[in-house]
Parts: sequence; structure tokens; C-alpha cells
Amino acid sequence: MTEKVAPVKTLKGKLVSPPDKSISHRSALFAAISNEKSVIKNYSEAADPQSTLACLRQLGVEIQQQGMEVTIQGAGREGFKKPDEPLDCGNSGTTMRLLAGIVAGAGIECNMIGDDSLSARTMKRIITPLTEMGCKINGRDGTYAPLQIGAHRGIRGMRYPLPIASAQLKSAVLLTGLFGDEPTEVVEHVLSRDHTERLLELNTEPYGTGKIIRSSKADILPAQNYTIPGDFSAAAFWLVAGSIHQDAEIQLENTGMNPSRIAALEVLNQMGANILVVNPRSEGKEPAADLMISPAELKAIDLDPVLVPNCIDELPVLMVAMCFADGTSKITGAEELRHKETDRLSAMAEILKKAGASIEEKDDGMLIHGDPDFSPKPAIYPSWHDHRMAMAAAVLATRASGVSQVEDAECTAISYPDFWAHLKQISR
Ligand code: S3P
Repeated sequence: MTEKVAPVKTLKGKLVSPPDKSISHRSALFAAISNEKSVIKNYSEAADPQSTLACLRQLGVEIQQQGMEVTIQGAGREGFKKPDEPLDCGNSGTTMRLLAGIVAGAGIECNMIGDDSLSARTMKRIITPLTEMGCKINGRDGTYAPLQIGAHRGIRGMRYPLPIASAQLKSAVLLTGLFGDEPTEVVEHVLSRDHTERLLELNTEPYGTGKIIRSSKADILPAQNYTIPGDFSAAAFWLVAGSIHQDAEIQLENTGMNPSRIAALEVLNQMGANILVVNPRSEGKEPAADLMISPAELKAIDLDPVLVPNCIDELPVLMVAMCFADGTSKITGAEELRHKETDRLSAMAEILKKAGASIEEKDDGMLIHGDPDFSPKPAIYPSWHDHRMAMAAAVLATRASGVSQVEDAECTAISYPDFWAHLKQISR
């Protein structure tokens, strides 16, 4: 489906952020390896977290779902059954990488498959350390899904310095570590999102600029009863939309505020955004708050590469904000964007060029020559079936001088099924 996006004069209203995708996946996976019954509220109805539930059902985990409330009878570490069909992870890298850590650790014979996008993303980053730990795991050309997972002769714990700042890789190794005869230690030099260690209450210790995280068989997995906060990564589209419009007042209720996820807020604040954080509170084991966004005169920024893993999913829409900022913004150290649902550096370069923005794509980032009076050209934007490309293009198109179109717009359902409805709700 192609979505038409008309220029928007005013963005006003109150929205509730959709449930966090990363936490939804983890809540279900961790409930499944517990021995108890868990009730998770505000579980995401988006396609990716639903892929995680479908795979767990294939592994014999009993799951009841009533809207956004999910009840999971944990199978325990030894309780998964061999699935009859390949585990279909759909478009979801988090499902494939984290669940591989569990099924390979448990030694469940199975295949894992994904859609075309997921089948083109490297799984070598998990195959290498998991194999070193004793797992039987392989992929097409040793790198890609389908993954084949088999029974093993025991899992060895190991000390693993993360070669890339990736929460999915970190989590896969730590989850396999739950099946090890000795403890596993992951050394993280550049911090990435910490939901896994937080939700499993793993032992962590500061280490240089980063930290060490430990997991072992002895880690007791309690029932996971909590409410999932809203998704900061989804909220980021409104943080930028409200900041680049001259007449805007957006109230975002219930947004996750985990410090390892909110660098985009710091970046926007450094750019001069007007974002108020109100009513800070805890939601389950995670911090949350409400956000109020008003228009701002944005200035360019030289983004600190250390912040990149903390705002990796928000970078595409931050690039949109940078187009409206005074001066040249610089993003470096963001090569990981090329390994997402699509190559997000080249996709964003194409989107921004179509809009007439002055940008220079680099191997690991982008230079964006911003202009506070930038008026994007109405255009037909491809989305490459990538939810974040579609939503970033839509935010850009709200400032265009005419009607734009976003192709394959239904892909927003991967993380934010109500995105288009929410955009209409606050647009005048
Ligand atoms: C995620 C980690 C990030 C992020 C993805 C979700 C997670 O991926 O881009 O959307 O839930 O752990 P990487 O770990 O590959 O950086």
C-alpha cells in the first residue's frame, strides 16, 4: 500500500507511545525459559514481537494472548520441544539472534528462517561465539539464515569481548551462557541497550568505559510479571516531527526512558530542541516518563560516535531533523546502519536527496548541510519494506510543499501498527 502524506500546518495532540519492541521480545523469551507462569501487560501487537510469540509456541511454550496482555507458562531451560517446522522469525533480527542464543544453548534441533530482508543480514556475528561455546549452529554460507541448529555435547562458558556494539549479539551470548557449565562473561566496551541484563537481573560490573556482564546456569529466572513501557524509538519520530514544525505541541504519554536508549533525546537537546520530560516513573524494571514536544530552532551537531549504539534506531529520523538545522551536521561511526532491515545509510541518503536536501553519504555516516528554511520537494519515497525508513520519510514529507507518497507503507506495522493513524490524529 502507498500512503499519501500531505503537508501539515499544525501537529497537535496527545499520543500514547506503542509498547517497546525490544522489551516485548525479551519479556516473552525470558518468561519462556523460566519455570513459572508470567503475565506481561502492554505487550507489543507489532509484527516483530508477534514473531517471537509464534516461534515460542512452535517450541511448545503455552501462551495465551488477550490483546496486549500475554500469559506465558514457562517451559524451563530443559522444556522446549523440537519444532515440526522451521522457526519463522519474519523480519525480526532480535527474534532470530536472541532465540538462537536460547535454542542453540538448549541444543534443540531446528531450523530458523526469516523473510528476504532478514535472510540477507549477517548471522555470522552470533554463529562464531556460539560455536566457540559448544553450540551446533550454522547458516547458509556460514553467515545467513536459514540457520541450522543441533544437539550439542555441553556448553562452555567463556569471556567474550564484544567485537561490535550490538545488544542482539551481547544478548545471544549471555542467553547461551545460561546453559553453560561455567559462567560466561561478556565484555562491552561501548554500551548498547541493557534490557537483557536489567530484566534477567544479571550480575554486571563497570569495566573501563564499559562493563562486564555475567550469566550462568545458576542464574535463577523468576516469573516475569510486569507492564512494558512505551517505545522510545517509536516516540523519536514525534520528537523530531514536533521539533521541525513551526506550530506543534505533542504530548507523548508513557515513553520508555532507559538511559541506554535515549541518546536521541540528548542529541536533540544539544541541537536546541524543546522537549520536556514530565512525570518520571518506573514501569516494571524500566524507567518511563511523559514527553512534551514544542517547536525549536535547531542547530547542527557533530554527533559523538560513542552515542551511536544508543541511538542507532533513531539515527534515520535524526537525519531528518538535521536537514532543518542551521549548519552542517556530521554523523560518523554509524557503519552498523548498513546491516539493519535495509542499508539504512544508503536508503536515507536516497530519501533525503529525493527531498532535495544537501547531504553527503560516507562509508560510516553522513554529512548533512541543514537549512532552517528547508522545504522538502514532494516526492515518491521507497521504504524498502523497512518500517523506520517509511516513518522517517513520512516525518520529512509533513514539511514538504506538496503531497508526497510513501511506498509499502504497511511495513510500519513491524514496530508501530498505529503510526499512520497517529500521524492523522495529530495533523491539521
Ligand atoms: C535491538 C538491538 C539493536 C537495534 C534493534 C533492536 C535489540 O540491534 O537496532 O532494533 O532489541 O536488542 P543491534 O544489536 O544489531 O545493534
